[in-house]
Amino acid sequence: MTGACSGIGRAVSVELARNGCGLLLTGFEAEELARLEVELKPFAASLATKAADLADARERMALVGWLRDQSTPPDILINNAGIGGRFGSFAASEMADMEKVVALNVLGFLHLTHELIPLLRTRPEGCIVNISSGIGRLPYPGLAVYGATKAFISSFSESLACELSGTRIRVMCFHPGFTSTGFMARSAMDMRRVPRFLVHSPERVAQRLVKALRAGSRWVYSDVLTGLSARLGILIPHRLRVRLFKNLFWELPDEH
Ligand SMILES: NC(=O)c1ccc[n+]([C@@H]2O[C@H](COP(=O)([O-])OP(=O)(O)OC[C@H]3O[C@@H](n4cnc5c(N)ncnc54)[C@H](OP(=O)(O)O)[C@@H]3O)[C@@H](O)[C@H]2O)c1
Repeated sequence: MTGACSGIGRAVSVELARNGCGLLLTGFEAEELARLEVELKPFAASLATKAADLADARERMALVGWLRDQSTPPDILINNAGIGGRFGSFAASEMADMEKVVALNVLGFLHLTHELIPLLRTRPEGCIVNISSGIGRLPYPGLAVYGATKAFISSFSESLACELSGTRIRVMCFHPGFTSTGFMARSAMDMRRVPRFLVHSPERVAQRLVKALRAGSRWVYSDVLTGLSARLGILIPHRLRVRLFKNLFWELPDEH
C-alpha cells in the first residue's frame, strides 16, 4: 500500500489490518509511518513499513528491493499515493509544481506497477488496485494536471486489465468521490460550494474499497452519487459539460 500515512491510504490500512491482513506499508513521512506501525501491530497478521519518496526513481527502486526481500511477497499492490498540486488555472501554475504532480501520480505509479508485476506473478493470485478519482474522466478546472493524471490512471488501468485478463493478476480501478482528507487543504481549494452530502469520510471510502476487493470488482466508485455523476458527466454534450464544470464547484483564484 502506497500513501499509507494519511487520508484514504491510512483508513484502508486500518481496515485491512482489522480484517486480519498482513501489510507492507509505505509512505512519505517516516515518523508518521512509525506511529501507524505501532497503532496497527496488534491487529494486522503481519506488518512491515518502509518510508520512500515515490517521486524519486532511486527511492522507488530501494522500496522494490525491500519488497523483493520480504519472506512473503505482496499479493496486492494498492497504488494510492497521489498529490493534487496547487489549485489555480493552468496558465498561472508553476511548471515545477505540475512536474511534481506528474512525477508522483504518473511516473512513480507506472514504475512501481511495472516493477511489481513480476513479484505478483509469483503469487497464487495477485491484484493491482489503482486509485483514480470520480472526476478522472470529467473536467477539473483549477487542478487540470491532477485531473489528467487521474484520467491517465483510469485509462491505463483499463488497458492493463485487458492485457492481464486470463492471468492470475486482477486490476481494480477505484474512483473515490470527495473525501475529507488533507488533500483539499494541501491544494488550497475552496470547498465551500461542494455540498456536504457529496463529501465522505476516508473510513467510509476505505470500507467500500475493501468490500470491492473482497468481491473481486474491477471498476468501482466509492459511492452511488460519484458513480452516477461520472457516468452521466461523460454522456452530456461537450459544450454543456464545459459550461457546467467551469464554475460548478469552485472559482479559480486567479480569475478575480
Ligand atoms: N480526497 C479526495 O477527495 C480524493 C478524491 C479522489 C481521489 N483521491 C485520491 O486518493 C489518493 C489519496 O489521497 P488522500 O485524499 O488520502 O490525500 P492525502 O491524505 O494527502 O494522502 C496522499 C498520500 O500520498 C502520499 N504521498 C504524497 N507525496 C508522496 C511522495 N512524494 N512519495 C510517497 N508518498 C507520497 C502521502 O504520504 P504522507 O502522508 O507520508 O505525506 C499520503 O499518504 C490520492 O491518489 C488522491 O488523488 C482523493
